[in-house]
Amino acid sequence: MDRVNIIHRPIGEVGLWFSGEEAGYVFIVSDRNVRRWADRTGIKAKGILEIDALEDYKSFGTVVDICRWLMEMGADRNSILVGIGGGVTTDITGFAASVYKRGIRFAFVPTTLLSQVDAAIGGKNGVNLDSFKNMIGVIRQPDAVFICPEPLDTLPYTQIISGAAELLKTFIIDNSKGLYGKAVETLSRIREAGGKLDGYSGILGELISEAAAIKAGIAGRDPFERDERRLLNLGHTFGHAIEKESGESVPHGNAVAMGIILAARLAENTGLAEKGLTERLEADFKACGIPTGCPFEIGRLTEAMRKDKKAEGGLVHFVLPFKVGHVETRSLSPDDVTRLLQE
Ligand SMILES: NC(=O)c1ccc[n+]([C@@H]2O[C@H](COP(=O)([O-])OP(=O)(O)OC[C@H]3O[C@@H](n4cnc5c(N)ncnc54)[C@H](O)[C@@H]3O)[C@@H](O)[C@H]2O)c1
Repeated sequence: MDRVNIIHRPIGEVGLWFSGEEAGYVFIVSDRNVRRWADRTGIKAKGILEIDALEDYKSFGTVVDICRWLMEMGADRNSILVGIGGGVTTDITGFAASVYKRGIRFAFVPTTLLSQVDAAIGGKNGVNLDSFKNMIGVIRQPDAVFICPEPLDTLPYTQIISGAAELLKTFIIDNSKGLYGKAVETLSRIREAGGKLDGYSGILGELISEAAAIKAGIAGRDPFERDERRLLNLGHTFGHAIEKESGESVPHGNAVAMGIILAARLAENTGLAEKGLTERLEADFKACGIPTGCPFEIGRLTEAMRKDKKAEGGLVHFVLPFKVGHVETRSLSPDDVTRLLQE
């Protein structure tokens, strides 16, 4: 598998990468809300298409619209499609580029914290099918992912919180550089500053760059999620169940954070985690402004866990944190998990 080309640079310098005669036509799909950032990249695009970054539009219909637009604009097989926006935009764009003319090159400029540390990294590109998330998709790497600090300046604090859970998740999985503590400290300071990033974007930049590198490393070693990549699902089995049970009213990042706390409790109740891990993580997440309390009694999540799309033969892979920097997977039945958490 090709290594992911993650490029950290100011947004005004992104366009330089696309210059040169062999570069081919460049087309941009931009989230309507970040059009100003798309214009600041300095990319000389042959066309720019604005889309609404809503989960409902993360559909096959939008992919068809993009492909039709590319065809009308004369995009050939040497063209490159650039997705600028959060995870909704990068997921749709990566998928459209992967199927248009059997696949053209693509690149991303992720503009949310979540997409910079997670969605734009790792090569999973896809769209929803009816109410089933990410049901249709491909695994294919972009030619480049540009991580620029500036777009975070316009990101609402709720979106910072949504990405914060994935950022902390990454350092719970791999704390080899001791960045979990630094991430908690930085996110707590941002919360204390009323959600303003001023003065913190520099430090956050280092954390984003390390988290993106960790995800890229894991996804590069196990692109098809047969082994190590499963670890990235820490908090997600419970998280998806919480999202489903809440009718999607609990945001994904918050659901993942609640899921990590449940996974820690499960690991402690089975004697696998170090004592006090759950309380430590809960306190850290709260300090960062991330909600941790699952709004439902655990029994209500059992059915949703059973229907988890990664369930195999009645067993579900749960990622359990043993301590910060050490997580492992265990295949467990949702009924056993429910019983263990009710103890
Ligand atoms: N492919 C993967 O591996 C992967 C991993 C995780 C999540 N995802 C997907 O990512 C999606 C969520 O992504 P997201 O959280 O980035 O959300 P998003 O793309 O929906 O963006 C969230 C909101 O922020 C706005 N926005 C984006 N950048 C902005 C900026 N710089 N300033 C102001 N507003 C801005 C958007 O318009 C939108 O309203 C989900 O569809 C999820 O399935 C994919």
